[in-house]
Amino acid sequence: MPKKAPNAKAIFLVKNLSYRRKNSYNVMRMQQPKDIEISEIDTTGPLYVEACQLRYDLLRVPLGITHQDAEKFDFEKDARHWVALNEGRVVGCVLLYVNPSKEGKLFQMVVAEDHQGKGIGVMLVNALENAARQQHLEEIQLHSRLVALNFYRKLGYKAYGPIFAEVGIPHRRMFKVI
Ligand SMILES: CC(C)(COP(=O)(O)OP(=O)(O)OC[C@H]1O[C@@H](n2cnc3c(N)ncnc32)[C@H](O)[C@@H]1OP(=O)(O)O)[C@@H](O)C(=O)NCCC(=O)NCCS
Repeated sequence: MPKKAPNAKAIFLVKNLSYRRKNSYNVMRMQQPKDIEISEIDTTGPLYVEACQLRYDLLRVPLGITHQDAEKFDFEKDARHWVALNEGRVVGCVLLYVNPSKEGKLFQMVVAEDHQGKGIGVMLVNALENAARQQHLEEIQLHSRLVALNFYRKLGYKAYGPIFAEVGIPHRRMFKVI
């Protein structure tokens, strides 16, 4: 949990942890696309270039942010990257960055428009959370665009704190105990 979180959130967490584990959306979801493969990649190959293009096209261009490398963070090489592949084409991606305070942060969640609504976003977050558990992380934090809040809620993430602006659009902080 973020260090400055109010106690009420901690109480909510303890009360709901066992419920959420038993009833989590990703366990309940019955159908997943069969033609999609989730792979972890590094930042050296062509799949990374393709993933960056997807991130740029869907997460930056629609906001009018079009300078070179607009989608990239300083910590690209230190983050873990997963892509969703459909017949070798990158159709989704997500990043996990564990910061120096050992907090796990989810970034750059995106699925190609022609593949949205098929469960690929769920598959990517599941891959990230499984890896985070193996790294002994207990929580994932993220900044959600308001339009994506309910996607993360279905995966068990909880919003907290005020709405704030990031890349010029409203966001909320969310977290999930994994
Ligand atoms: C948000 C996003 C990653 C979801 O990926 P996806 O592959 O389409 O999501 P899934 O198919 O795995 O959806 C899982 C569930 O969440 C729901 N969902 C997906 N996107 C949603 C959204 N934006 N708002 C509300 N619910 C959403 C789906 O309907 C589905 O619910 P269901 O099983 O009850 O039908 C994708 O729509 C996307 O890339 N959006 C544009 C970029 C973006 O906003 N990224 C998030 C940045 S914080």
